[in-house]
Amino acid sequence: MKAIILSGGKGTRLRPLTYTGAKQLVPVANKPILWYGIEDLVKAGITDIGIIISPETGAEVQAKTGDGERFGAHISYILQEKPAGLAHAVKVAQPFLGDAPFVMYLGDNLVQSDLNIFLDEFKTKQLDALTLLCNVPNPTAFGVAEVDQSGRVLRLVEKPKIPRSNLALVGIYLFNNSIHEAIANIQPSARGELEITDAIQYLINHGNQVEARQIQGWWLDTGKKDDLLEANRVILDTCLVAANHGEVDNQSQIIGRVRIGERSKIKNCTIRGPVVIGEDCDIENCFIGPYSSIADQVVILNADLEHSVLLQGAKVLNIQQRIVDSLIGQRAQIKEAPQRPRAVRLMIGDDSQVELA
Ligand code: DAU
Repeated sequence: MKAIILSGGKGTRLRPLTYTGAKQLVPVANKPILWYGIEDLVKAGITDIGIIISPETGAEVQAKTGDGERFGAHISYILQEKPAGLAHAVKVAQPFLGDAPFVMYLGDNLVQSDLNIFLDEFKTKQLDALTLLCNVPNPTAFGVAEVDQSGRVLRLVEKPKIPRSNLALVGIYLFNNSIHEAIANIQPSARGELEITDAIQYLINHGNQVEARQIQGWWLDTGKKDDLLEANRVILDTCLVAANHGEVDNQSQIIGRVRIGERSKIKNCTIRGPVVIGEDCDIENCFIGPYSSIADQVVILNADLEHSVLLQGAKVLNIQQRIVDSLIGQRAQIKEAPQRPRAVRLMIGDDSQVELA
């Protein structure tokens, strides 16, 4: 069994962060989203992994993620020249995949479920495709499935205006080699993409065995700011292990699960977990509230924040209002002038500078 992880695409919904970087590298609890997928696959015993990359962000993905050694995997990088659809990505990956059955994992998805259960089922029942589903309140934002009582998929529609169920396609699919023929026989959709939903529908229409299973636990598609903050909240809630590798002075109070990275200095602060702080940070006279992830080399002085994600090298200086529900890009700076507004809600891209005057 092999796997491909789709880490190309345009990432338009996380702009401006994704003007300068790959959306799959945006960190959740200080770890790139993409790495969670790699770890899930390795946990399920799949170590031969191809990562689909785009010309714009491929080098960054490759430099950060490496050859897979750190994950106990072997990673190949596969360039997709343009984001022409999920099925197009499979087509581009065909030389890597050969005739092997494979998992297709969307690089911006996070799931709690253990993949082993689905792999076992896929193999034992000798299915041609197994899709994973999740009950969602907003199915129009996803691929939507209609299934019969036994779990057989009847129909799939990509982002339907009038959805026929609340069952969204999760971004993890299991296929055998019949998907390649299906992809060779479909046409681009109205939005100009080769849709994997159309390829799976082709399999269904040609009598192949296509089933679906609902996942247990949470599933997060990190496409937008609020989804990303929610993913951050869930991961900190469920996975964070407390540890202090930095320096905390005795004027500071650390409450609950807090992880502090090496060489980070905390002075006169209250930090209420779950919170993760990376390496080489300087945090002074602050309240850092629950569900905050602070990446490496961040400076925060005289500020309060909670439920926020700060990327590498961000600076937050002398802010009197509490910063909440915010996503602050790499090297972005926020500092306050003497006359201040009453509330702020922010999505700030890499290299931005914001002054609250
Ligand atoms: O997240 C689940 C949803 O993912 C499913 O419910 C939909 O059926 C499925 O089409 C997909 O929808 P999205 O609109 O979320 O797909 P997005 O364009 O965000 O692409 C998903 C991932 O695949 C993302 O990491 C970028 C990557 N990608 C995307 C395209 C279109 C590629 O690597 N190449 C591509 O050509």
